[in-house]
Amino acid sequence: MTKVDLNARIPNNIGLGDDRRLQRALEAWQPGFQAWWLEMGPEGFQADEIYLRTAVDVGRDGWAHFEHVKMPDYRWGIFLADPVADRRIPGGDFAGSPAFQQVPGEHRNALRRIIVTQGDTEPASVEQQRLLGHTAPSLYDLRNLFQVNVEEGRHLWAMVYLLHTFFGRDGREEAEEMLRRRSGDPDSPRILGTFNEPIQDWLSFYMFTTFTDRDGKWQLLALAESGFDPLSRTTRFMLTEEAHHMFVGETGVGRVIQRTVEVMNEKGIDAPGQVRAEGVIDLGTVQKYLNRWFSSSVDLFGGERSSNAASYFAAGLKGRHKEETRFEDHVALDQSYDLPVPTDAGLSTEQVPLRNAMNEVLRDDYVADCEFVVQRWNRILEKSGRPERFTLPSRRFHRDVGIYSGRHFDPEGNPISDETWNAKQADWLPTREDLDFVKSLMTPVLGLGQIANWIAPPAKGIHGNPFEWDYVRFDKSSAGVALGGAPTITG
Ligand SMILES: [Fe+2]
Ligand SMILES: [Fe+2]
Repeated sequence: MTKVDLNARIPNNIGLGDDRRLQRALEAWQPGFQAWWLEMGPEGFQADEIYLRTAVDVGRDGWAHFEHVKMPDYRWGIFLADPVADRRIPGGDFAGSPAFQQVPGEHRNALRRIIVTQGDTEPASVEQQRLLGHTAPSLYDLRNLFQVNVEEGRHLWAMVYLLHTFFGRDGREEAEEMLRRRSGDPDSPRILGTFNEPIQDWLSFYMFTTFTDRDGKWQLLALAESGFDPLSRTTRFMLTEEAHHMFVGETGVGRVIQRTVEVMNEKGIDAPGQVRAEGVIDLGTVQKYLNRWFSSSVDLFGGERSSNAASYFAAGLKGRHKEETRFEDHVALDQSYDLPVPTDAGLSTEQVPLRNAMNEVLRDDYVADCEFVVQRWNRILEKSGRPERFTLPSRRFHRDVGIYSGRHFDPEGNPISDETWNAKQADWLPTREDLDFVKSLMTPVLGLGQIANWIAPPAKGIHGNPFEWDYVRFDKSSAGVALGGAPTITG
C-alpha cells in the first residue's frame, strides 16, 4: 500500500515529500492552478460552503471524505491506484514484458501527446460549465455540478503530475499551457472539439456528463491498460471519481424524463406544444439533445482508420479494455476489423488491419455502453405506461471527425442527400427555438428541499443525506450575494 500524506501542501500518495525537486515544481504550478480556478472555475459560489467529497485514499472502502468546504479551499491531491505486483504490458509488441516504470525514450512524444490530450479535457469541462450554477434546479444539483467540477480539477492535477514527473522541461511547459488554453477561445481553444462547445443549460449538462464523461471513462479504461505503469495507476484511480459524473448525467436526464411523463400522464397530453406549456421539456427535445451530445462525443474517439491508434497499441501506450481477459491474441497483428466505409453508392465493408482500427474497437465498447443508458431511460417511459421510446443514433449520424464526416446520414445510419439532411435536420438536432425554450426554464431554485418544475427530485440524496438538505450553505456576507450565491430565490 502506498502511504497517504494529507497534510502536505499537495495531498498525495506518491511520496512527494521525498522528492524535493518534483515537490518544488508542483508547488510552483499550484498558484497558477488556483488562479485559473478563481478565474475560470464556477462563477460565483466560491465563498459558499459546498458538501463535497474529497479523495483521501485509494482503498476500496473509505477513499473519500465528505464535508462542507469552500471550493477554493478544496484539497486537490495526487493519488495513484496501488501498484499491481509484477505487472506486465497487456498488449502490443511488448505484450508480456514487464510494464514500463519510466517513459520509453522512442515513445516519449506520443505518450506526452496522449497525456496532454486527456489532461486538456479536464479544465475544459470546468470552463464549459462555469455559468451553470446560476440556474441550478436544486441545491442537490448545484452540489453535484460543483462536485464534478472540483474532480475534473483533480484530474488535471493527475495529468500534470505525470507531465512534471516524467517529461522534464517540456512537461512543465505543457502543464502551463493547460492553464492558458480556454474552452471556446478562437485564438487558444481547448484541443478537442466537444470541449469547446458551451454548456448553457442543465439538460446539456446532464447529456454532457452522460455521453462526454462516458467518453472520458472509455479513454481512461484504455489508458488503464497502458504499459506505462504510472499512467495506468493514475487513470485507474480517476475512474473511481468518474463514475459519479456519469451518475449525475444519467440520473439527471432520467429525472427530466420522469417529470415530463408525470405531467403528460396527469394532464392527459402528448403534443409537444401542450407539454411545453406546462413548463416541462417535451420528449422530442430530449431526443434531439441526446442526438447532439452523443454524436459530438462519438467524435472524440478519433478516426476509424488511424495510424496513431496502431502505433499507440503497438508500443503498449494505450490498450483495449480488459486486454488480458477479453482477448486471446494480445499482439493483434493478423486480424482485421470490418469497417462500413461510405462510397458514392452507399456503404461498403472494408477490412482494416485491427491495430489501425483500435479507435473503432474502443468506440464499439462506448456505443454499447451508451445503448444500455438509453435502455434504462426507456424503462422510465415503460414504467409510466408511455408508448414513446428513445433511440441512440447511429455512430455515422452527424459526425465531424473521421470517414463519416462531410457526408450525411440519418439517425439510423443510412446515407442521405444534402437535400434530405437540410429538410430533416431540425427534426433531429436542437433548433434555436428548442434551445431557447429549454433556456427559458432555467431559473434557479435554491431553497431548501425545493426543486424546479421541469425535473423530478432524485430517488435519494448524497452520502446518506436526504434530498431536502443544505448541500450548499450560502455565505451570508454581501460578497456571496454579489456573486449570485444568495439563498433568496426559491421556486
Ligand atoms: Fe475527468
Ligand atoms: Fe468526468
